[in-house]
Amino acid sequence: PHLSGDGKIAVVHNGIIENYVELRDFLISNGYKFISDTDTEVVSQLVSFYYAECGNALEAVFRVLRRIEGAYALGILCVDEPEHFIAARKDAPLLIGYGEGSNYIASDVTAIIKHTRDVSYMEDGEVAVISADKVQFYNAMEQTIEKEHHTIDWDVSAAEKGGYAHFMLKEIMEQPRALRSALAPRLRDGLVDFGAELGSALPERLGSVVITACGSAYYAGCVGKLAIERLCRVPVTAELASELRYSDPLIGEDTLVIALSQSGETADTLAAVRECRSRGAKVLAIVNAEGSSLTKLADAVLYTRAGPEIAVASTKGYTTQVAVLTALAAELARRLGRLTEPELRELAAGLYRLPDAVQKAIDLNPGLPELARRYCLGGALYYIGRGTDRAVALEAALKMKEISYRHAEAYAAGELKHGTIALVEEGTSVVALCCRTELLGKMISSIEEVKARGAKVLAVAPAGERRILAAADDVITVPRTGPLLDPVAEIVPLQLLAYYAARELGCDIDKPKNLAKSVTVE
Ligand code: AGP
Repeated sequence: PHLSGDGKIAVVHNGIIENYVELRDFLISNGYKFISDTDTEVVSQLVSFYYAECGNALEAVFRVLRRIEGAYALGILCVDEPEHFIAARKDAPLLIGYGEGSNYIASDVTAIIKHTRDVSYMEDGEVAVISADKVQFYNAMEQTIEKEHHTIDWDVSAAEKGGYAHFMLKEIMEQPRALRSALAPRLRDGLVDFGAELGSALPERLGSVVITACGSAYYAGCVGKLAIERLCRVPVTAELASELRYSDPLIGEDTLVIALSQSGETADTLAAVRECRSRGAKVLAIVNAEGSSLTKLADAVLYTRAGPEIAVASTKGYTTQVAVLTALAAELARRLGRLTEPELRELAAGLYRLPDAVQKAIDLNPGLPELARRYCLGGALYYIGRGTDRAVALEAALKMKEISYRHAEAYAAGELKHGTIALVEEGTSVVALCCRTELLGKMISSIEEVKARGAKVLAVAPAGERRILAAADDVITVPRTGPLLDPVAEIVPLQLLAYYAARELGCDIDKPKNLAKSVTVE
């Protein structure tokens, strides 16, 4: 916590106070001295300034909130009022947990699940005064309000490692179960059926689809784009939320915007959604975290039901997003009349089989720790693929980068000869994703090109694909699940490859350096 100079006020803060320099100057001109350059210290000093004026911590906080600009989840304690503390929220996640004889604030439910499952989600502009046995809420007009209680329905063990060395490994291994819970409610009588879940999110005439997200969620969107375009024959673009929001996008009332986010709190994704809504678009959110900010902005929400994801690197968050997007593509195609019933049944059958296929993808590859040692510990690492394989390559390279700190890049295999092949030399590691059967010949050419320059090639291919066994140095085997579902089974051994590389390198796997689980600032 940051203390005010007089030691009376303590503040914890998640977010950024954008006008802190101006406020700092104001406080300095009033005789305040600072011991850090942080925006958070400005908040503690400003509360102290107003507290000195009015002698009431809540009133002082209200005055501060009228002056600060930016994003914040704040917890504020005043030494003269030890029986309670104050919380305030704007554009950063904050929830209240109700315990027995104790109440809590947290940015994420995983922090307090050991103590309580009874929570209220704070909204922008709201303030709460929390004592051991009571919580009083105020809205942005400073009027008292009542808040709804929500019960967290997952088990405490979901926020524990359960015998695994890391949350990431546990979450990788949980994927079959997570996929079952994501897909089961959307499969009925051998068909994909979202029932009333899409609510009012579909435009009357579907002109185009824009998928927006950040990081792994964006890469899930890249897979989803291919699935929706292929099944629905409508134009789909996948846009990074941080780019979309500033791109003056061609979005209107006939655009369906699909926003993907595990946390539902990613600042860039929220901002992109607000931008799209201001242009009249309908927004469908695909989210894991219940009660998160994105769920409140969207016209309808599809929960991925993956359970809490605690490791910073997304695994089950990503695969459940891809699975729900693919199921959504089938649902839209059915509504648009683009597929025959046998085609729809075949897709649904693939989705039914997906959790088992993911388990197989794990079981088929006990040699991954050794492959990680041989391919991933030195030099650059390139991931190549075409079509959906290319989209998966992007995610696979991100996994490797974020937890092992190895330099890993993903390229469309056909692009190698347009530049990147210049970087391939003796000993360079290339991971070639080869699940697109119709493009196998092309991938074999790419493998030969990089091998001719001295690269060692680790391929990912369906079981029994002899041509790949002959062309590559080593093969990670994945079960065949069908062109649209392969990405889900295919990424899993590559998540493990990154995990074992990071473990070998002694990295802090669950909390990689410089990264946060939810990126709640721009
Ligand atoms: C995933 O491994 C990353 N940690 C990161 O790219 C993440 O996917 C991104 O920040 C988006 O998060 P979200 O899904 O919670 O919006």
